[in-house]
Amino acid sequence: MAKILVTGGAGFIGSNFVRRLLRDTDHDVVNVDALTYAGNLENLSDVEGDGRYSFHKADIAEFASIEPVLRETRPDSIVHFAAESHVDRSVHDASAFVRTNVVGTQILLDVARMHDVGRFVHVSTDEVYGSLGSSGRFTETSPIQPNSPYSASKAGSDFLVRAAHHTHGMDCCITRCSNNYGPYQFPEKLIPLMISNALAGQPLPVYGDGKNVRDWIHVEDHCRAVQLVLENGVAGEVYNIGGNSERENLHVVRKLLELTGQSEDLIRFVKDRPGHDRRYAIDGAKIERELGFVPEWTFEDGMAATVDWYREHGAWVDRVKSGAYRSYYETQYGRLD
Ligand code: NAD
Ligand code: DAU
Repeated sequence: MAKILVTGGAGFIGSNFVRRLLRDTDHDVVNVDALTYAGNLENLSDVEGDGRYSFHKADIAEFASIEPVLRETRPDSIVHFAAESHVDRSVHDASAFVRTNVVGTQILLDVARMHDVGRFVHVSTDEVYGSLGSSGRFTETSPIQPNSPYSASKAGSDFLVRAAHHTHGMDCCITRCSNNYGPYQFPEKLIPLMISNALAGQPLPVYGDGKNVRDWIHVEDHCRAVQLVLENGVAGEVYNIGGNSERENLHVVRKLLELTGQSEDLIRFVKDRPGHDRRYAIDGAKIERELGFVPEWTFEDGMAATVDWYREHGAWVDRVKSGAYRSYYETQYGRLD
């Protein structure tokens, strides 16, 4: 049994990861999250009574906020999900991305070293590799060529984690995953946005010609891969994680319209994202060979299950869209402030 501190555990992937650790291991789990617009503790309301789980509201980009949490909880390992994660927001204003993703990661590394934390898993993204043409896939040795302020900030954080390992001998691993989908994803990203709009009979905005390609992975597969890296990854190594499911955006949107029983007349082609990366694809041979990871979800099964989840969780979507979920913290944790 160990104590694992998860940053960003109130977000999409982090909350799925926290639930997984509590369900499949006997670890204690410390969830640290600043509760930005993307942090929603309702995602974890089902584990709140678990004696192995605790939540701490703290900002990784402020030493005085995050340091006391590590001093008090003394985790054995950290899995670092906390980030500003949405590319479009980074196009409008990159400042929060630099603050959390770059400065916050360095502060977290410093505090982890100060308190003798063991393994530090840094959850990064395939977007640090930039964009592909019509062929080829990203390997761990592909050049780092980020194109958006978001991916540039994630690349910066990757380099800081790499440097912490090389300079200070910290036990760090970096994961670089492709596009996730599944339960509790904030409806600003392609798949949950399209599902919630389709279910409401509202237009579906497709950027540019809709032919950009992403390699989709179910969040449960991503979380399983991160757990394998936490348990068996080699210090200093990078692991790509992919879903073996490359699809054009238009294909994804049409599939979601079919699953929600809506007409393709809802599709609207809108102005393209500035600097829009054309294609991502992951070569997952290293993590398969070294840690035995292969994705289990097919794209078709994953899409169907995800549409079902959003159909069944209309109240969750409504509360996220209206902002009502933000009052949950005060109701549940107001006493901690
Ligand atoms: P998300 O936006 O849903 O969640 C991010 C969480 O981090 C939120 O709970 C937010 O409150 C928290 N946070 C933000 N700033 C913070 C700060 N300063 N201090 C403490 N907490 C803070 O993101 P996600 O989609 O779950 O992504 C999680 C991680 O995985 C990110 O690092 C992202 O770069 C990476 N990633 C995401 C994907 C994807 O498809 N979503 C793919 C590969 C990698
Ligand atoms: O590849 C991993 C990355 O995937 C993660 O690091 C990011 O955190 C995550 O947000 C995601 O980035 P993308 O930019 O690929 O995801 P997004 O869901 O924003 O967009 C997916 C594709 O769909 C992309 O080509 C842009 C397009 N799109 C997106 C939205 C929100 C649309 O056509 N219309 C939309 O309204």
